[in-house]
Amino acid sequence: MRRTLIAGNWKMNGDLVTNAALLQAVRAGAQAHSAELVVCVPAPYLAQTQAALESSSVAWGAQDMSAHEAGAYTGEVAGRMLKDFACRYVILGHSERRSMHGESSADVAKKTKQALAHGLTPIVCVGETLAEREAGSTSHVVQEQLQPVLSEVLDQLKHIVIAYEPVWAIGTGKTATPEMAQEVHALIRQQLAAADSAAANVVRILYGGSMKPDNAVDLLAMPDIDGGLIGGAALKAADFLAIAQASQP
Ligand code: PGA
Repeated sequence: MRRTLIAGNWKMNGDLVTNAALLQAVRAGAQAHSAELVVCVPAPYLAQTQAALESSSVAWGAQDMSAHEAGAYTGEVAGRMLKDFACRYVILGHSERRSMHGESSADVAKKTKQALAHGLTPIVCVGETLAEREAGSTSHVVQEQLQPVLSEVLDQLKHIVIAYEPVWAIGTGKTATPEMAQEVHALIRQQLAAADSAAANVVRILYGGSMKPDNAVDLLAMPDIDGGLIGGAALKAADFLAIAQASQP
């Protein structure tokens, strides 16, 4: 069975003092949950996060990485650097990176391959904008975003995580209904199955977009929603842990 994964995306938030309290509280509360917990923190805080979470049940990761191995890529962070800080996960293709940093699905596919080459588990994000949903093109958009990744790492699909994050639900307080989300998650699983049927059963598909303690139970009860990618609510330990609690059978 697929173990529930609750991943926090801190985005560009935090400082040494607030992080210390948040990491300590997440660590202290984590044992009580059967879900796997991960925090994806800004790169400068990876060393702090590693020190705070080492030998705990909480994993950590980054929010992006380079598609390249090393070299003249000013400002970029390489996969092997993330491994130096014992990252297990890396978020790739978040809609904020696609829209503000011009990342294409082909770029995301290359980063996914590079992450896997370094033993990192990529959390590959896909999702439609409001205009795309209203135009009835949600499934087309999501499938087009995912396909380059599936082709690039076809032989390693079982090692990836996918996050469906409708752009209109991110940071807006608007959540997809559990049924709306389930419909897209089922489509994604079908697309996976067409590429590799064994992988389709094990790949976890997370929902993201204003997931909070009060809507998490219904979302996580859906058959193809295997966890959450949590933005705003991951900055409060109590909310993050309450979402993990919501996933308990
Ligand atoms: P949100 O962000 O939970 O604040 O909507 C989710 C995300 O962007 O990953």
